[in-house]
Amino acid sequence: MSSGSIVAALAATLVLASCQHYEKQEDGSAQPGQPASQSAAPASAPAQSPVERGRYLVTIAGCHDCHTPMKMGAMGPEPDFSQMLSGHPESVVLPPPPKLPPGPWMITAFPLTAWSGPWGITYATNLTPDSLSGLGIWTEEMFIGALRTGKHMGTSRPILPPMPWQFFVTMPNEDLSAIYAFLRSIPPIRNTIPDPVIAEPPKE
Ligand code: HEC
Repeated sequence: MSSGSIVAALAATLVLASCQHYEKQEDGSAQPGQPASQSAAPASAPAQSPVERGRYLVTIAGCHDCHTPMKMGAMGPEPDFSQMLSGHPESVVLPPPPKLPPGPWMITAFPLTAWSGPWGITYATNLTPDSLSGLGIWTEEMFIGALRTGKHMGTSRPILPPMPWQFFVTMPNEDLSAIYAFLRSIPPIRNTIPDPVIAEPPKE
């Protein structure tokens, strides 16, 4: 068999396999869905637990991009899930950022958990439930407050770039609550991140 026909045969097998997951609905339409045995569950059964929903939201909202330290893979940085969501590693002590000439460039430092720009220097927070260095003492109210107001713990200093809280304010409370539930469920990692360096606002 040529490699082209192997690919074609494989594709046909995949199409057949995926067709098995289409089932006839009561209205006669075919919908992609669960295998029949699972879809027989009562309609009221929750599709996902809050922790599962939170895991999904954290993945698609890109929280790992900044809060999970990267390791170098063959094609570049990849999240190192052995340090999942633990923020800037305390073992990585950075020198002061190089001074850039005025212009659009900003700086990030490997493992892509620290940034320097006009706002100062910020480090991705430890989002694991560790009691000393993570979100351990944070209540759900503090967590939701932080993402809704852009203020540290929902009450104090402004949360600085590149944390994109402005986009997360549009999430409904139940999604923020699911993210909080997921973050409580992950392994705690002791990792104290440095304090941010907050730049003076530019003079008028
Ligand atoms: C582009 C990078 C980036 C992404 C994406 C990102 N964060 Fe952040 N986050 C940061 C940085 C940097 C800080 C620290 C900011 C500071 O010190 O002011 C931070 C801080 C936080 C804080 C602490 C806020 C506080 O009150 O001090 C929480 C909670 C948080 N992020 C949750 C999340 C969650 C949940 C997601 C995904 C839904 C997420 N972040 C996505 C970069 C990011």
